[in-house]
Amino acid sequence: MSLSKVGATSGAGTLAGALPHEPIPTRAFITCGLASLAGLMFGLDIGVIAGALGFIGKAFAASQRTEEWIVSVMMIGAAAGAAGAGTLSHRLGRKKSLLIGAVLFVIGAVACAFAPSVPTLMIGRVILGLAIGIVAFAGPLYISEVAPQHWRGAMVSLYQLMVTIGIFAAFVSDSLLTASGNWRLMLGIIAIPGIAFLVAVLFLPESPRWFLLHNRTEEARTVLYSLRSDPRAVDREITEIGEQLKVRQLGTTLFLHNPNFRRSVFLGVGLQIIQQLTGINVIMYYAPKIFGIAGFGAGAANWATAVVGLTNVLATLLAIGFADRWGRKPMLITCFITMAIGMAAVGTLLSMGVHGETTRYLLVAMVLVFIIGFAAAPGPLIWTLCAEIQPLQGRDFGIGASTFTNWAANWLVGNTFLTLLTVLGQAPTFWLFAIMNAGFILFIVFLVPETKDMSLEAIEQNLMAGKSLRHIGR
Ligand code: BGC
Repeated sequence: MSLSKVGATSGAGTLAGALPHEPIPTRAFITCGLASLAGLMFGLDIGVIAGALGFIGKAFAASQRTEEWIVSVMMIGAAAGAAGAGTLSHRLGRKKSLLIGAVLFVIGAVACAFAPSVPTLMIGRVILGLAIGIVAFAGPLYISEVAPQHWRGAMVSLYQLMVTIGIFAAFVSDSLLTASGNWRLMLGIIAIPGIAFLVAVLFLPESPRWFLLHNRTEEARTVLYSLRSDPRAVDREITEIGEQLKVRQLGTTLFLHNPNFRRSVFLGVGLQIIQQLTGINVIMYYAPKIFGIAGFGAGAANWATAVVGLTNVLATLLAIGFADRWGRKPMLITCFITMAIGMAAVGTLLSMGVHGETTRYLLVAMVLVFIIGFAAAPGPLIWTLCAEIQPLQGRDFGIGASTFTNWAANWLVGNTFLTLLTVLGQAPTFWLFAIMNAGFILFIVFLVPETKDMSLEAIEQNLMAGKSLRHIGR
């Protein structure tokens, strides 16, 4: 999920807490809504493998290592897609990048559905990964550029929510298809929303900011007139964007020569490593396996996974509602404690042996505790923070580095979980995640700033003045 990229251009950098009073023009809302389907596609592709994996494993007599690769190879594609997405959306435009992403989604889904062997299945998953990497960059960027200023936070949050809805929808679709055991249909069916997304993108206007970036002022003006209710505001907005575009992105140079910028880059990278080492994607990719270990049959395990997906959606709403009121740090600390408890309890239940219905449901409940903890803070807020802490001149570079790290760490976790279960044992694997989640509290307390109610300019001033990281916020 990628609130991060928003900050690259939005200058808003906060999640929507209270909604602004002035209504959003219908056209702008529809445009953002259609673009947020990018988030839905992202979520569908993350979620779809969970319920299908068991059947795929049987069909190809795949070893545990092979299963780990089938899951995690997608993240290699995503990292590559994310690495190229900046150049793509700069050169071709946001709309064309989204179009390329949409086409890749459809091709990837079809390739997976018809894959005759494990290597071809993996190629299909890499293509899906490329699609994710591109749209997870271009989607939020586009939304932040077409949304009216006061609605920017809310519209980007809508994108966030769509990611979790996509994951949930994929879990439900897998559950409905479990009885048939038809994993090809599970993977292939997401070509349908992929085509819908493709058609939706065709109707989107190009981003006005991109037009301005390429000195195409009249086209930018035409798009803005169609998206704003007050024509006078359009000229003001064009001037403002023009001013912002004068700030040159210094990226690598700044990184090499400015130790203060290096600190914010490392903080972003560290935050994303932490987000993945919470173990969230262990649950997202392998929940049915975990529930299988606890004695659930395939059908029940996939339905329990769907409940996990729904909980993820609902708890994300909590983060959206409260981040700007309670502040990032208290929410993060509370949620890391919650996640540590959830993981520790899952480990303990597994170590005692899950016999009988009650313990089985208790195990699901503890996984839900973990998910609530993740989705109510680190899920969305780490993306927010990664965007907020970077100074304007290095924002593209800083956010690029942290986003790439997110995919790399995501790959690592997805690629090793089953092996960890075998090598360390089931309970110790979850205890390990519990210990890490508890340890991350220290990172939050000592290194992370409170950015609630802070302008991005003030954060930047503090960072560049050499204040310690935790003091660059309030
Ligand atoms: C993470 C993803 C994860 C998703 C689950 C995001 O914030 O970056 O890796 O799959 O949350 O909702």
